Amino acid sequence: IADVQDEIDHELITKAQIASKIHEVAAQVSKDYQGRDLLLVAVLKGAVNTIAAFSQALSIPVQMDFMSLSSYGSGTESSGTIAIRQDLSCDVRGRHILIVEDIVDSGRTLAWLVEELKRRGAASVEIFALLEKPSRREVDVDVRYRGYEIPDEFVVGFGLDYDERFRNLDSIAVLKPEVYQGE
Ligand code: PRP
Ligand code: MN
Ligand code: MG
Repeated sequence: IADVQDEIDHELITKAQIASKIHEVAAQVSKDYQGRDLLLVAVLKGAVNTIAAFSQALSIPVQMDFMSLSSYGSGTESSGTIAIRQDLSCDVRGRHILIVEDIVDSGRTLAWLVEELKRRGAASVEIFALLEKPSRREVDVDVRYRGYEIPDEFVVGFGLDYDERFRNLDSIAVLKPEVYQGE
């Protein structure tokens, strides 16, 4: 396929909208965590674009760590089982943590991660999620910093993939239905 745009049906959230929301949240977080020692934990792979933009928009010093979690496999439906593909490199005991996530769908990934970080002894755990699909929520997750609510459409871009593709799109988009053919 020559061009990534060939498989895009329409754009849902533009590059400018994403940037503006991330800056808004970063200003709030910079205020809320002023004077505290903050650790950002990004959930790879989806959150890679969000944490890159978000961390640069913060005006306070932070540390960053990464955990690679998978709930989706290659389909468009969450499998419900969370697998650690790669763990954090630091001890979170006593740390104030802000989890950075691209999207909350069923909520299973974040519900699991919040419990896991608390179990490891984190002093506090909050969440920034760029996107939320409220209609798909299955478990309760308290998202402190929220980006955009989106309808129940399978979206890609800005870190979000379909079968590992489209993460490098700079906006959030809906794929053409034929891309899912065979599912
Ligand atoms: C996606 C997305 C979130 C999670 C949300 O990750 O990036 O992490 O699913 O779904 P949930 O609320 O139903 O748990 P995925 O498992 O596809 O891994 P990836 O980030 O590497 O794409
Ligand atoms: Mn993810
Ligand atoms: Mg995925």
